[in-house]
Amino acid sequence: MSVLVIAVHPNLAESKINKALIEELGKHEQITVHSLYEAYPDEVIDVAREQQLLLAHDRIIFQFPFYWYSSPPLLKKWLDHVLQYGWAFGPNGDHLQKKEIGVAISAYGTNEQYQADGDNRSTIEELLKPFEATVNFVGASYFPPFKLYNVGSLSEEQLEQSKADYVQHLTSAQLSHVK
Ligand SMILES: Cc1cc2nc3c(=O)[nH]c(=O)nc-3n(C[C@H](O)[C@H](O)[C@H](O)COP(=O)(O)O)c2cc1C
Repeated sequence: MSVLVIAVHPNLAESKINKALIEELGKHEQITVHSLYEAYPDEVIDVAREQQLLLAHDRIIFQFPFYWYSSPPLLKKWLDHVLQYGWAFGPNGDHLQKKEIGVAISAYGTNEQYQADGDNRSTIEELLKPFEATVNFVGASYFPPFKLYNVGSLSEEQLEQSKADYVQHLTSAQLSHVK
């Protein structure tokens, strides 16, 4: 089981949470981190390189800070450019069908705020539906999201625990329904 984490943070130098998670992932051989804003400072995506990276891994996770209930913009561009007709869907577009693809997010909002009756009127799972639908559309299996809430108030101990939980999540057994 090889894991590719596509990290999408526009300013990792200023990041606390995503930077800490990425540093932890670097200690684990089966996990490769690919940081999009660092790979493409001009935001021009090398589609062939991205597709090769996808082919080379079994499980692909998009890790990002939740920005306006979605991802930073380079991930949207990545999806638009990399998931090509005739490669990810359509005729011969079967390259992602055996993959597990999911999302890992950090959010300022609390678990209570991300409830149907909470401040955000929605759960994270609901807000992540466009990602789930995209994974479904390309014939891959949706790997359950990893969610870190209330990141502005995480203690150092909680962050340490979250790092361990994240690695555990990423390297856990394959989904039973994977084709
Ligand atoms: C432009 C912007 C939009 C944000 N939108 C949300 C949001 O919709 N929901 C939320 O819970 N947090 C939101 N946040 C807070 C970020 O998710 C939080 O700062 C980030 O997860 C912290 O991770 P980092 O230390 O790696 O930057 C937003 C932050 C910024 C800068």
